[in-house]
Amino acid sequence: MTEVKLEKVCKYFGETKAVDNVDLQVNDGEFMVLLGPSGCGKTTTLRLIAGLEKPTSGLILFDGEVVNELEPKDRRVAMVFQDYALYPHMKVFDNMALNLQVRGVPRDEIRRKVLETAELLGIKHLLDRKPGQLSGGEQQRVALGRAIVREPSVFLMDEPLSNLDAALRARMRGELKKLQERLKTTTIYVTHDQIEAMVMANRIAVMKSGRIQQIGSPQEIYNRPTNRFVAEFVGSPKMNIFDATVISDENTRLTTGEFDIDISPLLARKVAQSSSGPEVLVGVRPEDVAVSTTYQEGFIEAMIYLVEDIGNLSFVTLQAGDVFIVAQAPPSIGLKVGDKAYFKLIAEKLHIFDKKTEELII
Ligand SMILES: Nc1ncnc2c1ncn2[C@@H]1O[C@H](COP(=O)(O)OP(=O)(O)OP(=O)(O)O)[C@@H](O)[C@H]1O
Ligand SMILES: [Mg+2]
Repeated sequence: MTEVKLEKVCKYFGETKAVDNVDLQVNDGEFMVLLGPSGCGKTTTLRLIAGLEKPTSGLILFDGEVVNELEPKDRRVAMVFQDYALYPHMKVFDNMALNLQVRGVPRDEIRRKVLETAELLGIKHLLDRKPGQLSGGEQQRVALGRAIVREPSVFLMDEPLSNLDAALRARMRGELKKLQERLKTTTIYVTHDQIEAMVMANRIAVMKSGRIQQIGSPQEIYNRPTNRFVAEFVGSPKMNIFDATVISDENTRLTTGEFDIDISPLLARKVAQSSSGPEVLVGVRPEDVAVSTTYQEGFIEAMIYLVEDIGNLSFVTLQAGDVFIVAQAPPSIGLKVGDKAYFKLIAEKLHIFDKKTEELII
């Protein structure tokens, strides 16, 4: 069991700052997900932890001990790659056993460990096959099995589910999560899929351009994103964000020019104190927009621009002037493109960001 800590870690490739001043603590037994778009530095961070890359500066610590100079083989980490990297000419058994054989573990013990792990993963019947004779999901389990038999202190997983079809992927992410809870091995898992991150993580570290944007539980990241990037990256459909100005006369409100949203004087004061000006960005999640086919007190008139029905839910894009807002509605609401409709933004659910810095104000 191991705690992994990164202190001010940088990794530059020439001019590219792949990892930029990263501070991260992964607790013993924790499932930490690194989430971010392509090129944000997720794989590089994992490779630094594995010892496959050396940091340009900063410290990497395992249980408080600096491991910067430790070879990968001495770090007791097991990495599962996106492409599984199985040896095609070797049977599943040998793929799983190889690392233990190299380490000189006695044959009986290897056999016991491989069988035990194969049982755990439900791949015992596949041990005599070669990787080419397996489905993607089975190969993925073999790659995991190979990592598990090593009994590492830390699992490092780089998008291990990305080659699977949607249904298998959804099933495997649940199984993998349960497995990790059972083994209680510290795990750092990389993905650019925010749903995967939300359902698997104890905590998520959101990255952009080599920098960590926010670290928190899935709920914290979803409910209180620290800046516009995190707000838009997590959540599907993504959070609506539009420009508005804070007006602080007798009735405090946000105005887009097209419509107003009443806010409390307290909120207006907070914005005035912490923002670089009265211009702000207002964010609201689709589920926090109420839609109605008839006018109700406090609702704003709009046109239906688009309706996307996914069976159990409907996502309705409303147009008010040049502001477009996606709302989540029951499919039975029966709205059609071109119809008139009314919406209301739930004031307590608004996220207000500084227009310039795009950091959360409240
Ligand atoms: N060996 C290398 N040499 C030069 N640049 C590199 C090297 N490895 C990574 N980079 C650059 O560092 C940045 C981060 O790359 P990294 O592979 O860590 O991103 P990632 O978040 O894993 O992306 P993806 O989701 O596409 O896998 C990118 O701009 C990439 O081009
Ligand atoms: Mg990567």
